[in-house]
Amino acid sequence: MSETPQTPGAADSPHADVERILLSAEQIEQRLNELGAQIAEDYAENPPILVGVLKGAVMVMADLSRRIDLRTEMDWMAVSSYGSGTKSSGVVRILKDLGTDITDRHVLIVEDIIDSGLTLSWLLANLRSRGPRSVEVCTLLRKPEAARVEIDVRYVGFDIPNEFVIGYGLDFAESYRNLPYVGVLRRSVYED
Ligand code: PRP
Repeated sequence: MSETPQTPGAADSPHADVERILLSAEQIEQRLNELGAQIAEDYAENPPILVGVLKGAVMVMADLSRRIDLRTEMDWMAVSSYGSGTKSSGVVRILKDLGTDITDRHVLIVEDIIDSGLTLSWLLANLRSRGPRSVEVCTLLRKPEAARVEIDVRYVGFDIPNEFVIGYGLDFAESYRNLPYVGVLRRSVYED
């Protein structure tokens, strides 16, 4: 059996559509180690419920949660943003709601990326209306140049340039989520 290519450019693999690797699996792992330790320290007296936003946050949640050495709970929401394909509009619909009552709970939202910030802005307002004790955000990636709303984010893995990124949960047309790193998608893949 041949080895899985770990560098962009190999033919017949998702790696071939990657222009360059922005964050390696090792860089991501190291940063999540730091964030997990920080979160465990900050929430030592008040273990949070981790709320992952499907589907992109699956990888971050899986890896981050195992680095938070506390008795945490985990739940998921799926939301759909009405937008023009790649741009979100801020109008959000709940596809899957929490199964947990978060009244009086400490909530930590786990996201893969904050782009315009519109999805998260809506989600924060929605969750805050349910009477939690606190709501904070942990995101692996943030694109400061794309921000359309200002959001106070407590934990940020990396600020990245405003490029089309895929991998480690992030998709283009539902593909590439399984790449172990975050890479920049080749323009030829999404432009004619
Ligand atoms: C992505 C990401 C965030 C949102 C960020 O989800 O996971 O939830 O977009 O964009 P914004 O800051 O511009 O609102 P997406 O809607 O692509 O769904 P997915 O997680 O299933 O890929």
